[in-house]
Amino acid sequence: MTTIAVLVGSLQEKSFNKRLAKTLENVAPEGVTFKYVDINMPLYNQDLEANYPESAQAAKDIIGNADGVLILTPEYNRSIPGVLKNAIDWVSRPYGTNSFAGKPTGVVGISPTPVGTAMAQASLRPVLAFLETKQLGQPEVYVALATDDMFDEQGIMTDERWRKNLTAYMETFAEWVRKEA
Ligand SMILES: Cc1cc2nc3c(=O)[nH]c(=O)nc-3n(C[C@H](O)[C@H](O)[C@H](O)COP(=O)(O)O)c2cc1C
Repeated sequence: MTTIAVLVGSLQEKSFNKRLAKTLENVAPEGVTFKYVDINMPLYNQDLEANYPESAQAAKDIIGNADGVLILTPEYNRSIPGVLKNAIDWVSRPYGTNSFAGKPTGVVGISPTPVGTAMAQASLRPVLAFLETKQLGQPEVYVALATDDMFDEQGIMTDERWRKNLTAYMETFAEWVRKEA
């Protein structure tokens, strides 16, 4: 069994990135389990560390116990959304207990624009390097020009070319996590 902690950097219900996460779960190889992290946390404030918010502690526990981490990031103003950075900051604390350390981590994303989250992913990678994750370099996943009709009612992607690419991504990612965990 390989457990993947999944962070989706969007709170909106019909998020493309949430739907991409569901699709990746749908095409994942046998034995891979997704554990979703709820990133809806209080704004980080060092004063709150003494009484660590339950949501932040739950995220630390899921990530700490996972074999690998998968982050799906939207692109906001050429970077990652504040809600995602906020969750990452909580998980990296308290000082000396960074739950990302050593975790094999993948980064993917989807946007309705031609950019396909390339710049958001590029700005996330140095944060993950500082947090001492191991990062999968390739393959990369930049789903561009997303539209609602790429997905079915359940939010699973139906586009055959993308399903093939995403299946290949999950095979490589799962095998790499098993090796690195
Ligand atoms: C504040 C804000 C900034 C955005 N900036 C970008 C951007 O820099 N590049 C881009 O491709 N899309 C940008 N978008 C559009 C997002 O790609 C789009 O809203 C996308 O659906 C967000 O991902 P989600 O569907 O998973 O929530 C932005 C959207 C918002 C709300």
